[in-house]
Amino acid sequence: MPKIIIISNRLPVTVEKKSNEFIFKQSAGGLATGLSSLPSDMDYIWIGNPGITLENLNNDERTKLKFKLINNYKCIPVFLSSENIKYYYNGYSNRTIWPLFHYFPLHTFYDQLTWDEYKKVNKIFFNEVINYVKDDDLIWIHDYHLMLLPEFLRKKFPSIKIGFFLHIPFPSYEIFRILPNRKEILDGILGSDLIGFHTYSYVRHFLSSVLRICGYENHFGIINLSGRIIKVDVFPMGIDYDKFHNADKDEKVKKERNELQKKVKKLKVILSIDRADYTKGILQRLEAFDLFLDKYPEYIEKILLIMIAVPSRPKIDSYNKLKNQIAELVGNINGKYSTLGWSPIWYLYKSFSFKTLAALYSVADIVMLTPLRDGMNLVAKEFIACKNNKRGVLILSEMAGVAEELAEALIVNPNNKFEVADSIRTALKMPYNEQANRIGKMQNRLQSNNIFKWFESFIDKLKNINNYYIFFVSTRFIKEIEDAMISEYIKMNRRIFFFDYDGTLTSFKERPEKAKPDAELYSILNKLLSDKKNKIVLISGRDRLTLDKWFGGLNISLVAEHGAWTKENSNEWFTNASLDTEWKKEISNIFKLYVDRTPKSFIEEKDYSIVWHYRNADPDFAVMRLREMKGDLLDIVANLNLGIIDGNKVLEVKSLDINKGKACSYFLNKEKFDFILTIGDDWTDEDMFSAMPENAYSIKVGIANSKAKYWINSYKEVRSLINKIGDRK
Ligand code: UDP
Ligand code: G6P
Repeated sequence: MPKIIIISNRLPVTVEKKSNEFIFKQSAGGLATGLSSLPSDMDYIWIGNPGITLENLNNDERTKLKFKLINNYKCIPVFLSSENIKYYYNGYSNRTIWPLFHYFPLHTFYDQLTWDEYKKVNKIFFNEVINYVKDDDLIWIHDYHLMLLPEFLRKKFPSIKIGFFLHIPFPSYEIFRILPNRKEILDGILGSDLIGFHTYSYVRHFLSSVLRICGYENHFGIINLSGRIIKVDVFPMGIDYDKFHNADKDEKVKKERNELQKKVKKLKVILSIDRADYTKGILQRLEAFDLFLDKYPEYIEKILLIMIAVPSRPKIDSYNKLKNQIAELVGNINGKYSTLGWSPIWYLYKSFSFKTLAALYSVADIVMLTPLRDGMNLVAKEFIACKNNKRGVLILSEMAGVAEELAEALIVNPNNKFEVADSIRTALKMPYNEQANRIGKMQNRLQSNNIFKWFESFIDKLKNINNYYIFFVSTRFIKEIEDAMISEYIKMNRRIFFFDYDGTLTSFKERPEKAKPDAELYSILNKLLSDKKNKIVLISGRDRLTLDKWFGGLNISLVAEHGAWTKENSNEWFTNASLDTEWKKEISNIFKLYVDRTPKSFIEEKDYSIVWHYRNADPDFAVMRLREMKGDLLDIVANLNLGIIDGNKVLEVKSLDINKGKACSYFLNKEKFDFILTIGDDWTDEDMFSAMPENAYSIKVGIANSKAKYWINSYKEVRSLINKIGDRK
């Protein structure tokens, strides 16, 4: 079993110094509490910030602290200065990324200084981590503080396995694009092999930003970054279910529970627990509670809201302001509704131990969690797990990641205080049977998808990340295969090369007008042609005119429009295709409709086909239109013996009698060749690969499902290969 290196900003223990003694406390927040349940026999280390600044420790203390953290907690401290904390933690992490990713653009500050410090601290982490990395280790980086670290590590260790998990939401592209450093952040995360999120929505948003900002497409969540495979997937974080479910068997928990029950007497208890964070919707929840008491006064003296707000990020203005606003609003509500001997809200601005929390969950009739945005929200899961008598109701915001798993909760929009207020009444009136039914279903799910399963499934996927390469069936065209091929080439007397053009001999990203052949390409083709044993056939989807203009001067054969036209060296163009092209009018009318409805798309009309180009259009929108268009075309093409080619940002309709495979067969049937090499990059080139005899070499450019025997990374590698072959006589 390889060693796992967990890296997060905050360690699961936070260190304080009191009268020169170190005090170790459990850290706050879902990342630390959730992950702290890892089995102690697992081979892991955890690298992160111990929460005490560099200036507070002399050299001696640092060494001592490090020793204690390693030996007692398997933790390696990354010491940060108060300057680092100010700009990297309170600055870029929590005043830029946190608010923006939680859809609070108005709370978001953009500042060069904090960004520079963010990069600097990611480098500090990098410099610490590299001391512990061995080749077969698995590295697992957590959360938004360290989004540049995967790329730093990737550069230093090209083949080490790196996982990244984001514990907060990944926002929609429209929000993410606001970030000035959006490209660097994505590049940073993409240094990983496996990227995990709590929900499918976050995966979708991430992939959409990667496509729009970096231009990388994905195939079922797999991104092929120049031959390196990156998998993006959903891993909803679980809890240590048994620990919570069995908590009230513990004598201490039982005692606390009984004491608490005595204090709350017969009141119906609503519990709310969050870090005091503006994303948690605490003020809006209080307003909804106020409305509830106003609308349903029969609950006065019958109900109690226990509101726990755990102090969080106290150096940030918006958090301090929130603290005061909560205190004021709680004061107002208590002042408004309290009677002698009863107050509607107990407000506690502090954090509690697991045992007290378990007692609170157990006593609560309702837990009300209404974040405005939340990556997951583990408190919701903990409450459900604790309810072994199956009595209780969860009121849950639809904006929390956990709502996707706990659909049996009363799901509310936290911004609609009328809905939230009414949900309290619905919860109070819910029959026991229904409560038990809902809780039972949620418990089953939480029990099987627990924290250990979460950990295991992420680590398993990371360990086996290479399996994703089998999605792409062909073999990498490695040096050994190249050498073998070239030595075979040297021995042969009659050789033929079938080359596709766009994406094979030149970059497919170039716009058509920029895709002209350059001097390097002419030179390597000419070198290959200088050996009279070689014949080159350039097989393209482009029209005759363009191919003539670009390659007419070379002594090569050309095939245009995917096989509709052929030209042998300097002879005339000829075609074997049927001359009936009446069908083009009908297809063209449909295409025109879609051009009008899809800005920046256009039509290209060739002799035997018609093409809709959407390379420049909005990618998601164009794909939606593409689906619609295919639906419209399907009946027509079936009746007319036409085929639809779903190419690279193009949709082409052409006669089924024409394809690149038939064009290759024409040359192969005419003459006997003892060496055949075929290279292509897109869908239409599959017909060439299928038409090849057993002894041919076929190479696909880019990793994708293909009939080619081998794959190669890019057109640059193709050029270099042709150049090498040309050098051998
Ligand atoms: N928690 C705690 N003591 C408290 C309040 C909360 O230990 O007084 C824990 C709670 O059990 C949960 C975590 O803090 O595991 C909060 O995680 P959650 O995902 O709900 O929110 P986050 O703080 O990560 O945004
Ligand atoms: C969220 C974040 C964690 C963070 C926690 C507590 O759960 O996803 O990364 O540790 O909040 O916040 P803090 O700023 O105190 O670490």
